[in-house]
Amino acid sequence: MAFNHISAAEAASLIKHGYNIGLSGFTPAGTAKAVTAELAKIAEAEHAKGNPFQVGIFTGASTGESCDGVLSRAKAIRYRAPYTTNPDFRKAVNNGEIAYNDIHLSQMAQEVRYGFMGKVDVAIIEACEVTDDGKIYLTAAGGIAPTIARLADKIIIELNAAHSKAAMGLHDVYEPLDPPYRREIPIYKPSDRIGTPYIQADPKKIVGIVDTNWPDEARAFAAGDPLTDKIGQNVADFLVADMKRGIIPPTFLPLQSGVGNIANAVLGALGHSTAIPAFEVYTEVIQNAVIGLIRDGRVKFASGCSLTVTNDCLNEVYRDMDFFRDKLVLRPSEISNSPEIVRRLGIISINTAIEADIYGNVNSTHIGGTKMMNGIGGSGDFTRNAYISIFTCPSVAKEGKISAIVPMVSHEDHSEHDVNIIVTEQGVADLRGKSPKERAQTIIENCVHPDYKQILWDYLKLTDGKAQTPHCIRAALGMHAELAKSGDMRNVDWGQYK
Ligand code: COA
Repeated sequence: MAFNHISAAEAASLIKHGYNIGLSGFTPAGTAKAVTAELAKIAEAEHAKGNPFQVGIFTGASTGESCDGVLSRAKAIRYRAPYTTNPDFRKAVNNGEIAYNDIHLSQMAQEVRYGFMGKVDVAIIEACEVTDDGKIYLTAAGGIAPTIARLADKIIIELNAAHSKAAMGLHDVYEPLDPPYRREIPIYKPSDRIGTPYIQADPKKIVGIVDTNWPDEARAFAAGDPLTDKIGQNVADFLVADMKRGIIPPTFLPLQSGVGNIANAVLGALGHSTAIPAFEVYTEVIQNAVIGLIRDGRVKFASGCSLTVTNDCLNEVYRDMDFFRDKLVLRPSEISNSPEIVRRLGIISINTAIEADIYGNVNSTHIGGTKMMNGIGGSGDFTRNAYISIFTCPSVAKEGKISAIVPMVSHEDHSEHDVNIIVTEQGVADLRGKSPKERAQTIIENCVHPDYKQILWDYLKLTDGKAQTPHCIRAALGMHAELAKSGDMRNVDWGQYK
C-alpha cells in the first residue's frame, strides 16, 4: 500500500479539539516533533478566534520542546499522562491549567489498553522506516508506541531522516496480553529478545507520512562536579562492600540508574571501579555514560526504553551499529520497567530523591508537598521490585537553606517499606533489616548535612520515643513551615511545638 506523504500542517489538521493523541517516544528521544509543533499553531489560531482547542496527550514519558513546550504555551493540553520535565508544562500544571495524571511508567500502556483514560483518536509515531504492509521501525525509543499504534483510529508517521535506518535493528517490540490471558514475560537475562524489530500496524490506519529531518531534543548533561562525584563514589563504594560481603553475587547484578547528573556520576564511578566486574544494565533511560562504558567494555549489555543521549552520541551509535547491535536493545516501557522482570533479574535500582525523611520515606515528585516537579517516572517501578533499592540526593538544596532529610516527607512516592539505601555526599544509610527507630539513627548519623544534624536530633526529642514510628505530628512538617516563613529551614524553632 502506498501511503500519502503530507505536510506536518496537513497532518495536524486531522487532529480535532477534544481528541486524545498518543505519542511515540520516551524522554525527548523518538517522540513526535513536527506535527505537535503545527498543532500548537492550530490551537493558538483557534483560541484567537475564541474557539476552544485542547487535546489529551498519552506518552511514554517526557517529550521535547516541540511537544510539551509548544503545546503548553499554546494552552493546547487538557490532560496528560505520564512523566514530563518541561518547565512550561510544569508551570501550567502548578497553575491548575492542565489535568496531569502522574502514573508509574510501566503502567501507562496497560492503563490505556484497559480504557482508564479514554480512547486514542490519533497516534503520532516517529519512525526511521515504514513498509507498505505497515511495519513501523521506531527511532530512539520504545515508549508506548506498540499500544497506541494498535488502539488509535488513525496513525500519522513522522518519518525522520535525522535518525539513521541503522536504528532498524535496535528494537524488541513485545506487547503482553491483558488479564486474564497474560503470561510471564519471557525475559530471563537483559539481552533476551522476545518480540519483533518493528511494530506491525494496520496499514489502512496510516493516514499520512510526514517527512522530517528533525534531531532529537535531548539536552546535554552538565559535567560532573565534586558533589555529584562524591555521591557517585559513595554508591560505588557501598556496592563494592556489598559484593565483598557476598550480598551481591561476584558476577554482579544488572543496574537501573535514573536520569540526570547524579545518575551519570554514579555510572561513571561504577564504571571506573576496578573492584566491580563488567556489568549489565536493565534500565529505562540509556544516557551517554552507558554508551561510553559499553565502548570501554565495562558494560556488557544495556537494555533500555530510550537512547536519551546527545545527538553526537546517538549518531556515533548509529554509525557503529555493527559494534553496538549485540550490546544494546530498546523495549516498550511496559517491558523495560516491568515489575515482574525487575524482580526476576534482581535489579539494583538507583534513583534520585527530592527529599527523604528520617524513617526512609522518599518524595521524588513534589516541592513543598504541593507543587509538581517532574513526576514519578520509572522510579517506583524499579524501587518497589529491586534486589537493592538506592536513593541518592545532595544533603541540602538552595545553598543550604533546605535540608533534603526532614522529619516527615511533604509528599510520599516511595515508602519506608521499599527504600533500602539512602546516599548523600555525606555518606550512606543502610536501612535494610532495620526498624524505623534504627533507621532514623542511621539516616541522621550518615546522610544529614552537619548544619541539620542537631536540628533533627532535637526533633526526635519532641517525641516520646516509644512509638513504632515516633513523631510529634504538630511539628513533623515544621521545617517546611519554617522554609515557607523565613526561607531557611535552619531557623526552625522546635520550642513552639513543646
Ligand atoms: N525542596 C525544594 N527544592 C528542592 C529540593 C527540596 N527538598 N531538592 C531539590 N530542590 C530543587 C533544586 O534546588 C533544583 O532547583 P532549580 O531547578 O531551581 O535549580 C530542583 O529542585 C532540581 O534539583 P536537582 O538537584 O537539580 O535535581 P535533578 O535534576 O537531579 O532531579 C529529581 C531530581 C528528583 C527531580 C529527578 O531525578 C526526578 O524527576 N525524579 C523522578 C523520576 C525518576 O526518578 N526517574 C528515573 C527513573 S528511571
